[in-house]
Amino acid sequence: MLKLSKLAQAVTLMLAGSAALAGEVEVLHYWTSGGEAKSAAELKKIVQSKGHTWKDFAVAGGGGDNAATVLKSRVVAGNAPAAAQVKGPAIQEWAVEGVLANIDETAKAEKWDSLLPKVVADVMKYKGNYVAAPVNVHRVNWMWANAAVLKKAGVAGTPKTWDEFFAAAEKVKKAGLIAVAHGGQNWQDFTTFESVALGVGGAKFYDDALVKLDQKALTSPTMTKVLETFRKIKGYTDAAAPGRDWNLATAMVIQEKAAFQFMGDWAKGEFTAAGKVPGKDYICAAAPGTANAFTFNVDSFVMFKLKDASAQKAQADLAAAIMGSQFQEIFNLNKGSIPVRLNMDMAKFDDCAKLSAKDFVETAKTGGLVPSVAHEMAIKPAVQGAIKDAVSQFWNDEKVSVADGVKNIAKAATTK
Ligand code: GAL
Repeated sequence: MLKLSKLAQAVTLMLAGSAALAGEVEVLHYWTSGGEAKSAAELKKIVQSKGHTWKDFAVAGGGGDNAATVLKSRVVAGNAPAAAQVKGPAIQEWAVEGVLANIDETAKAEKWDSLLPKVVADVMKYKGNYVAAPVNVHRVNWMWANAAVLKKAGVAGTPKTWDEFFAAAEKVKKAGLIAVAHGGQNWQDFTTFESVALGVGGAKFYDDALVKLDQKALTSPTMTKVLETFRKIKGYTDAAAPGRDWNLATAMVIQEKAAFQFMGDWAKGEFTAAGKVPGKDYICAAAPGTANAFTFNVDSFVMFKLKDASAQKAQADLAAAIMGSQFQEIFNLNKGSIPVRLNMDMAKFDDCAKLSAKDFVETAKTGGLVPSVAHEMAIKPAVQGAIKDAVSQFWNDEKVSVADGVKNIAKAATTK
């Protein structure tokens, strides 16, 4: 009996101890599609397995503009969540406000500096201190294709250049099928635009025009060719494209209603959730002309300052979990991205992910690795938004000439 009571005492102490440190983390994110929700659920599971409570603060709206608006109102009201899906230069803008927590203790304990490419670690820091945890590496310059639709239209092989693409799209259109599944929302227009800019102009032009915002590049004959190519794609989308959510466009390719979609590899999360296999049910290919380039988009969570000790502990456990190898594998298998943590075993990942992982390393050496402008990795939110709107206006309004489109984008790039 004595032994049993000792055991009972030990269990009680253990439960009491863990209960005392159990906290709640409210996490703002915009992962609401099928594949995204499954991925977010993996983070919730890990947080709960550490005894904490997960308060889901999901704000629908691909690309995250809605979530950013809601976050601002919460922080202004003095009621920030524990963590929020914020990435790229926007991290610095939140850090300047003095509202982000310094999570160096977790980062040092977990050795993040040795587990991250320096270019990524630097984006997660403000004045040398970690204020955000990186989740993944998405590749944006993908073209998704349905092999059965291409076969039906008599298209042999996957287009590698824009000329080959338009020849294939013409065949699909003539076969009475939708060539390009698109969602007419500004961030999706911008996503397609940046792949065209990369494919037509190459990585150096992309960097000069859209990252360095060099006016000479922005008003060059190359940018004219980019907009001519971009506008030509519009003619291969369907009349119901305006306002369509990105994952519904992906569903059109999954369900053999459309041949192509230009979208980052979160789209692969939708194919995966639908039980589809790359190389069998669908094709992942570099957007035309971009096979030697990689537009990266690193999702991350900024951590907000919290008062309560148990909430701070839960927040630290959340940050550690995000960069942990267990989460890095299961989350990215569902999300369509690749782990941001270095030296991960890629055995369970599919061929698209393995190609992504290989190209991420190779393009870093060749100069083909560029930040996604459409997904807020490259320039400040205000100028990114102004260029996004100018690009979307050009896509939507046929009356805007190519010459005016070039001028409008170049002007938007001067936004302070
Ligand atoms: C991106 C984000 C991805 C995915 C996509 C669609 O900006 O980085 O994780 O959510 O938007 O919403």
